[in-house]
Amino acid sequence: MALLHSGRILSGIVSAFHPGLAAAASARASSWWTRVEMGPPDPILGVTEAFKRDTNSKKMNLGVGRGPDCRQKCGQEYLPVEGLAEFCKASAKLAPGENSEVLKSGWFVTVQTISGAGALRIGASFLQRFFKFSRDVFPPTPSWENHTSIFRDAGMQLRGYRYYDPKTCGFDFTGAVEDISKIPEQSVLLLRACAHNPTGVDPRPERWKEIETVAKKRNLFAFFDMAYQDFASGDADKDAWAVCPFIKQGINVCLCQSYAKNMGLYGEHVGAFTMVCKDADEAKRVESQLKILIHPMYSNPPLNGARIVAVILDTPDLRKQWLQEVKGMADDIIGMWTQLVSDLKKEGSTHNWQHITDQIGMFCFTGLKPEQVE
Ligand SMILES: Cc1ncc(COP(=O)(O)O)c(C=O)c1O
Repeated sequence: MALLHSGRILSGIVSAFHPGLAAAASARASSWWTRVEMGPPDPILGVTEAFKRDTNSKKMNLGVGRGPDCRQKCGQEYLPVEGLAEFCKASAKLAPGENSEVLKSGWFVTVQTISGAGALRIGASFLQRFFKFSRDVFPPTPSWENHTSIFRDAGMQLRGYRYYDPKTCGFDFTGAVEDISKIPEQSVLLLRACAHNPTGVDPRPERWKEIETVAKKRNLFAFFDMAYQDFASGDADKDAWAVCPFIKQGINVCLCQSYAKNMGLYGEHVGAFTMVCKDADEAKRVESQLKILIHPMYSNPPLNGARIVAVILDTPDLRKQWLQEVKGMADDIIGMWTQLVSDLKKEGSTHNWQHITDQIGMFCFTGLKPEQVE
């Protein structure tokens, strides 16, 4: 399933902080969300929240989204504004990792979003409302086209740092570090955890270390977009690897997750937005304001896809099967790139195509010119 277009190949298709990352949450230099106040509960959906908290066996919810017999749980009632609790928990586990201190201590908040794009929009809108330093966001260049419109429509603006080097069809490490070192302190650095769209170029672990060092030095906010966890290498932890050290270093971090590709749930629009916080109190305040942001956009997120994800992630056999299947898909993609290079050689090309196999995931910049693609 490969589409060649203007020298760029998109293959067809298919999340996680990490254990121990959060030991460093305690080292988080300073909170950037001190001005985020606890918001009031939503007057309509707050009734449902109060209903859920109530332990009275004779309770009855006459609020929104009830079927004809509101005493029965019909299974199709509205979700709370923040989404399905089991889903949010499972997403955070897949990200910061089950054993992480952040997860154990509750120093984070995860809300369900309308897929990965929705997570980006919620994150961007939160920054627009509460980030006290700047409206500038620095993504890698080039970046996924939608980043510009999502951040712009939320009232933020994209600048950029060098990332792709057309000469090597690889990562412009020197350019990236040079540019990131010049980003004004306390700005937003947009990072892609793995399988960079559209280039397929990911920094190697030692390069990530350098980026993390510069980000810490400049006191940048690390905004991670992770739309392809598990899909790049077939190993969920490996694909989320880049996020963990940032949290460990005490860098302020948020994370967008999507289940469109890795669970094939494109049309179900399942995603998550996580903000790592300074402590549990801050997490509660941030959550209350995220809910205030979400409610006027779409009231509350859809149920079905989140349920599917939660069941798969929380059922050991299903989770194992899912991981195996995604690994199979990731291997197919890797195999496809290898075959492309091998076929190019078979066709008589003496060019060095190694960048194609070095690039990661379903995207690839071949370095071919449009007429060569033709
Ligand atoms: C880099 C990147 N971020 C976010 C998204 C959005 O993901 P979703 O399709 O879940 O909205 C995509 C989708 O293609 C993407 O490539």
